[in-house]
Amino acid sequence: MPRPRSPGTTASALISVIAKGLAAAGIEQARAEAELIVRAACGLTAEDLILRPEAELTCAERERATTLASRRARREPVPYLLGRVEFYSLPFLVSSASIVPRPETEILAEAALGRAPRTRCRLAADVGTGSGVLACVLARHLDGLRVAATDISAHALILARQNARLHRAADRVLNVRCDLLSAVAGPLDFLVANLPYVRTGDFEGLQPEIRDFEPRRALDGGADGLDVIRRLSVQLSGHLAKGGFAALEVGAGQATEVANLLERGGLGSIEVVADYAGIDRVVIGWRRG
Ligand SMILES: C[S@@+](CC[C@H](N)C(=O)[O-])C[C@H]1O[C@@H](n2cnc3c(N)ncnc32)[C@H](O)[C@@H]1O
Repeated sequence: MPRPRSPGTTASALISVIAKGLAAAGIEQARAEAELIVRAACGLTAEDLILRPEAELTCAERERATTLASRRARREPVPYLLGRVEFYSLPFLVSSASIVPRPETEILAEAALGRAPRTRCRLAADVGTGSGVLACVLARHLDGLRVAATDISAHALILARQNARLHRAADRVLNVRCDLLSAVAGPLDFLVANLPYVRTGDFEGLQPEIRDFEPRRALDGGADGLDVIRRLSVQLSGHLAKGGFAALEVGAGQATEVANLLERGGLGSIEVVADYAGIDRVVIGWRRG
């Protein structure tokens, strides 16, 4: 006798039920996210869904999927549900200890890698390392580079250490809990920093995924968004080696002011790099050689 089926018994039926719920919660990519959730909860690949969409799910699998779906319906970011995210084509662990790494930050990674000296590069810093994605990408791409990765959040640094181990870079990424560069002795060949830059007044208007789930201290940069960057800008030339550079991620409309801050901090040859949306996203300043 075939077992009676209820909606949600098979992968494809459960995806439809979840997609409906997510759409009702205002989630735009409801169907795609429902698929991700069911795959993660049931250990299925994309191919499994194509080849065996009618495969029956166990009770435990259905329960796991519906639990994840209700978290998503409350607008928790997908990477927090899955516990992982891709950054610069590499897999990383992610948790609410840190923000979800953004595609814009890949522009910062690219800008730094494109300018870092390939031969004599010894020491760099990732200020406000969060989950450690930038530090790991730098260590993976630049042979022998050591990275001082700082953060004020002890929880973020636990995650950063896990990611450094995942990428077999724990011996070259030194995670340090401190304010900005206060515990880092230079000279640094270069540094990257994706520090908080959201204006306090803009915070409540952010998407619920960000506003309600990501750590506010990682995002809120004060009245004009530049409180933390401003404090860093006066420390840069004292920490950089001659001919070294600092590359900072900034928010929309902040590049000119950050360029001025870097110049006032003693850096020159300022460059600005736009992201794929055409927004000036990375400001780079050099210490004269
Ligand atoms: C926008 S998140 C960036 C995280 C990660 N670098 C990334 O790009 O995904 C900013 C990080 O800076 C850290 N942070 C904020 N103020 C800091 C400070 N004064 N010194 C060091 N880290 C700080 C936060 O805890 C947070 O992890």
